[in-house]
Parts: sequence; structure tokens; C-alpha cells
Amino acid sequence: MASSTTNARDLEQIVRDGLSTLVFAFGFKTGIVDAFTEIQQPCTAKELSEKAGKKLRYTQEWLGSAITILSEMIPKLEEATKLDGPKGYGYYEPILHWIDVYRSSEALQDWNQRLLLPVMNLKQGNAFAILDIGCGFGKHSREVAKLYPCSKITAIDMDQFSIDNAKKELTKSGLKNIEYICLKGGQLPEEWANKFDFVIINDVLHDSYEVDEILEGIKRVLKPDGFAAAYDPAVSSYHKKVINDATAQYFLPFSLFQCLPVSSMGPNEGLGIGWGYERRKQKIKEHGFRVVQVGDKDIDTIQEGIVFQKM
Ligand SMILES: C[S@@+](CC[C@H](N)C(=O)[O-])C[C@H]1O[C@@H](n2cnc3c(N)ncnc32)[C@H](O)[C@@H]1O
Repeated sequence: MASSTTNARDLEQIVRDGLSTLVFAFGFKTGIVDAFTEIQQPCTAKELSEKAGKKLRYTQEWLGSAITILSEMIPKLEEATKLDGPKGYGYYEPILHWIDVYRSSEALQDWNQRLLLPVMNLKQGNAFAILDIGCGFGKHSREVAKLYPCSKITAIDMDQFSIDNAKKELTKSGLKNIEYICLKGGQLPEEWANKFDFVIINDVLHDSYEVDEILEGIKRVLKPDGFAAAYDPAVSSYHKKVINDATAQYFLPFSLFQCLPVSSMGPNEGLGIGWGYERRKQKIKEHGFRVVQVGDKDIDTIQEGIVFQKM
């Protein structure tokens, strides 16, 4: 879920990121990172300390502070960065878990009040057909289902592991108005044509290697008076705007290690968070949608939630 605010929690995170970077830089300078990428994985701390030629205890402490979920992807990223290397790689399960934990129910409820409700208020009533594309572990769709008990939510994800998790949690929740389906956003069934009042696509477009197919599908499945809302981190497409921007500094490391490699797995160049809101909005318009004004947000300044409708 994207957020453009810098609250106390974000600041703590920024400090932690800064410290991780220092620890990492130390590892690079002293050769521990080189040893880490060269040694056969998995390895023990003792094997790593011997390979790096460092004291075991210091190596253990470095591992404890530096081996975050992102650093585990360094060898893969190193390969993907090479000119003749693989295009990218898939999701790393601990990252998917991390996203799930990070999205607490309270945070999602707050997010719904701030960002989703103004969109849902564009249509009268509360009995809607809603499609959630790229639902992940489905926590967000379950919050939407609670908020709109008279609505029916179809939540899809291309990742079977995520859908299995979502189904398990759904059983525990007792909610009856959600269906989770393992399906690619670019392959929405023909029989869904003109079926949905709202399509929610939260934190997915910038990760996707089939953004054109997804947008074509959305055009097909939205009712003529339906709305789609794409939420992605509020990061600009332009480097000049990204420099010194706290939101960009928070999100771009995740993109480097996960979003860009995942979105690079298709025939086109990858997107990642650095794709940015200006280019995302442009892409949505190129697919024949009209970007819609929600509340008093000026359309030209929308960054986080781009709401659009068929023309
Ligand atoms: C960052 S997670 C966001 C999950 C969820 N929407 C949320 O906000 O918690 C991105 C999800 O999009 C899914 N995804 C990416 N590309 C997809 C596609 N082309 N079709 C369906 N799901 C896709 C991934 O499998 C992953 O679960």
C-alpha cells in the first residue's frame, strides 16, 4: 500500500534503513559482502568468517544486523544486473510475508478511510461488484469486505502461494463475500465483461510485467459507469524530483531488490517504483481511460491513487 505521508513510523524506518546502509557499506569495505556472494549458499557464520578472513564473533554480529530480507537477494540482483544475466526474478516469499505483516488491520482501515472511501463514494449505494487485482495475501480485500458487507469482492493474484494464504485466512475470518482466485491480471475471463463497479489495483502496476494486458482487461471488465483505482507509491518518474524525496528514498530500495526484477520478467523493460506516477498516469491514458477527479485533489497533482474510468 502506498503512502505519501512521513509519520513517526516512517522516520523510524528511515533511520533503520540508514543504519542498514552503514552496516552494508562496512561489509563491502571489509570484503564480507564479497565473501558472502562468492561462498556456496547456504553457509554457516563460521564458514563465512573463514572465507572473509574475519573474526567469527564480528562476522556473526554483522550478519545479525545486515542480513535483512533485502540483502538476501544480493546474489540474484547481482546476476540480474549483468548485461548477459537473467531479466529479473520472481517474488521472494519473506518479502510477501513482510508486506502482509506491514499492512496491519489498523493501517488498512485508516488507508481505506483516507483513500478508498472517496473513490467508492463516486457511485451511489453500497452493493457493489468489486475486483481486487493482485490481492497478495488478501488482507486488504478482507478489510474492504468488512466495510462493504453487501458487496461481492473477487480478489485475484497470479501467485498460488499468496492465494493459498488468502483462502486460509478467509476461512478463519468467516467472511462470505470474497472469492479468491489464482489468476493473472492480464488474463481476465471474457465472461467478466462489464461486470465490475470498481477495480482496485493496490501496489501492483509497478510490479507487473503485463501492465498493458492488465489495463486492457480492466477496460473490458468495468461497467460503463465503473471506476478503477491504481495505488502505487507516490514516487515521481523524474530523477530531479526523486532526489531528497523521503518517500522515494524509502521505497526505491525495495524496488531495486524486488519490484524492478519482478516487473522485468516479461518481454518489455521492467517498471519498478521508479516508473513513477507521471508515466503511470500517461500509460493509463494511453489505454483510453479518463483520469477522474476525486474530492478536491487536482488531477494533475495526483501521485498515489490514480482513479480512472472508461471514456
Ligand atoms: C506488493 S504486492 C501487493 C498485494 C496487495 N495488493 C496489497 O496491497 O497488500 C503485489 C502483488 O501483485 C501480484 N501481481 C503482480 N503482477 C500480477 C499480475 N500480472 N497478475 C496478478 N497478480 C499480480 C503479486 O503476486 C503480489 O502478490
